[in-house]
Amino acid sequence: MEKQLYLAAGCFWGAEHFFKQIDGVTFTEVGFANGHTDNPTYEQVYTDTTGFAETVRLSYDPLRVSLPFLLQMYFKAIDPTSLNQQGEDRGTRYRTGIYYTDPDDLPFIRQAMAHEAARHSKPLQVEVLPLNNFFRAEDYHQDYLDFNPDGYCHLPVALFQEAREARDLATLQKAEKYRLLLKQLQSLLEGEKDPIACMANAAAMLHDTFHFWWTGFYRVVGDELVLGPFQGPVACMHIAYGKGVCGTAWQQCRTLLVPDVEQFPGHIACSAASRSEVVVPVMHNGSVTAVLDIDSQHLATFDYADRHFLQEVAALLPC
Ligand code: SME
Repeated sequence: MEKQLYLAAGCFWGAEHFFKQIDGVTFTEVGFANGHTDNPTYEQVYTDTTGFAETVRLSYDPLRVSLPFLLQMYFKAIDPTSLNQQGEDRGTRYRTGIYYTDPDDLPFIRQAMAHEAARHSKPLQVEVLPLNNFFRAEDYHQDYLDFNPDGYCHLPVALFQEAREARDLATLQKAEKYRLLLKQLQSLLEGEKDPIACMANAAAMLHDTFHFWWTGFYRVVGDELVLGPFQGPVACMHIAYGKGVCGTAWQQCRTLLVPDVEQFPGHIACSAASRSEVVVPVMHNGSVTAVLDIDSQHLATFDYADRHFLQEVAALLPC
């Protein structure tokens, strides 16, 4: 599984050299994003009239490095309060920006921006926008500092060392725990046909491993969700189709990551202590038969790694 992110961080020579060295970043290329012409050349972008920002396109493995961790690293490499200038490079092409292609990224980006804003007295000047367009820059701009080690760079050398040493330990450890859990759950459930028994042990194992606030299942019964096996405080017993996070995940047949439940329209607050959640549909023969719902007392607990592994948990259930 790979995810994409587009980051404008001033001159893309140094920015690419920084990002490509972070563990979990699997691919980088430099180019021009969110301008208003087609196939711009470097010379055209250099005139500062095309609207393009020098941008690094990143692919990353969310089972090794999370989006919030990458954004933390991004903020180390820019002055986020500086408008259209990074280092000595000035112009709109050197503006800073986070351009996303997956709308699910937006709550994580907003949260990282809020966290960063709290560290500064001046307002942030970083654009947060969907990616409109991206054109790869000419070959000689790619991996520029690898080919030109003494070439121009607006970033301090110490940052590259920091990028090389950066490890998203929280994500790496979480992935390790999930892998072990999946092995144990697979052998535990082997041959067991009763779905409720399997859900009960899956909930217990997840809850015990990660100490979530609430871990459990709602089963599809007729036209609603009914509370199934769970661990944690008492919960609502019936949820209508399309209602709350659980009913919406059922309706949309997709996993929902909710970094802040207050921001989810129609969230059903079974407990005021729950601040973020993930809901994964359990599918059988192409229809949703239940949902796995996990709540946390902390904001932004769940990310793409959780989504990946919890979908694997759901796939182990007999229905
Ligand atoms: N918060 C859920 C309801 C279930 S409880 O969290 C256990 C929702 O909005 O679907």
